[in-house]
Amino acid sequence: MATATLESFLERLHAINMIGLWELYPIYAQLPRHGRLESPPPMWRWRDVHPLLLESGDIAIDSRRDSTINARGGVERRNLVMMPQGAPVGAATVTMSCGVQYIKPGETAPAHRHDPAAIRFIIEGSGAYTSVEGEKLYMEPGDLILTPRWTWHEHGNDGHEPVIWMDGLDSPFVMNYLHADFWEPYPGGYLPVSHPVGYTRRRVGAGLVRPVGKIRERALPILYPWSEVYPELLHQKESGENLDAFDGINLEYVNPVTGAGPTLPTLSCRMQLLPAGFESQCHRHTSSFIYRVFRGRGWSEVGGHRVEWEAGDCFLVPSWIWHRHAASAGEDAILFAMSDQALLDPFDLYHEEAAPDSAS
Ligand SMILES: [Fe+2]
Ligand SMILES: [Fe+2]
Repeated sequence: MATATLESFLERLHAINMIGLWELYPIYAQLPRHGRLESPPPMWRWRDVHPLLLESGDIAIDSRRDSTINARGGVERRNLVMMPQGAPVGAATVTMSCGVQYIKPGETAPAHRHDPAAIRFIIEGSGAYTSVEGEKLYMEPGDLILTPRWTWHEHGNDGHEPVIWMDGLDSPFVMNYLHADFWEPYPGGYLPVSHPVGYTRRRVGAGLVRPVGKIRERALPILYPWSEVYPELLHQKESGENLDAFDGINLEYVNPVTGAGPTLPTLSCRMQLLPAGFESQCHRHTSSFIYRVFRGRGWSEVGGHRVEWEAGDCFLVPSWIWHRHAASAGEDAILFAMSDQALLDPFDLYHEEAAPDSAS
């Protein structure tokens, strides 16, 4: 049998939906694994986002996913989603989505549940709540609230001022990669209140003891109050014992069910404090980060680009991109961070390295 030419061989190979592994190597080589970014990393400045978010409150938006609900006139979700150019649908990073949600006094967003898990980081206002499985979790700025996967949840505002929070979900991972997303509305639209405020906090034991053997869930609707996180940040700053060269004071929100991180099986959350004038060293890791500046101002270098930021701004650190952070002189900077490290750790896929010249 005469030897076929490579060209005709590939033609027949491709016709049956196969490819030579060697053909993939140049494609793999194009993947961003070199530590630098061609263009500045995506970021969203609060001075751009905030006015649009407020404006969205005055515009009639039919955001209903299911027109049989909303009997009480609620808005399904008034949520503006960050989607960089070229990103997969609804994705801020390859695995995480991020948006900002706005709810006015008296409004309710009807209940639903879905496979993607969510976190809420509260930005401004108080009096609103997320009800998860019938337990109302009332929001204050700086609080973090978990909505584990497949839990019924709705939002409402019992207060007298609008409330804004950041939503973070693992939906790109669950929907775009795993195709494992189910979504359904709550029959009748709204959850009955079935647990008192503080119910889950009591269940997990707000400290060193808890009822024996009663918790089966891997994740619960936990509220991490800013009023407890902030004093710990300050304590850590004053003690100076845990000032990390790459991240400053770096607190992880731990899962109180397991007693360790991450916050949710698919999402890790942290609160970082960069002392005034602090400049971190440079590193990279295979986890991606979404940063939201909670207080202060400063700058980061991400993939060779300098990004100036101030309170309210949101910026991304993609996987395996060199980066470092700095706080301006005169004021500490506090950054809320969510990452997909929770997805990498169980499979030993987390890599991290310091830059050879870690100040570059
Ligand atoms: Fe939801
Ligand atoms: Fe980092």
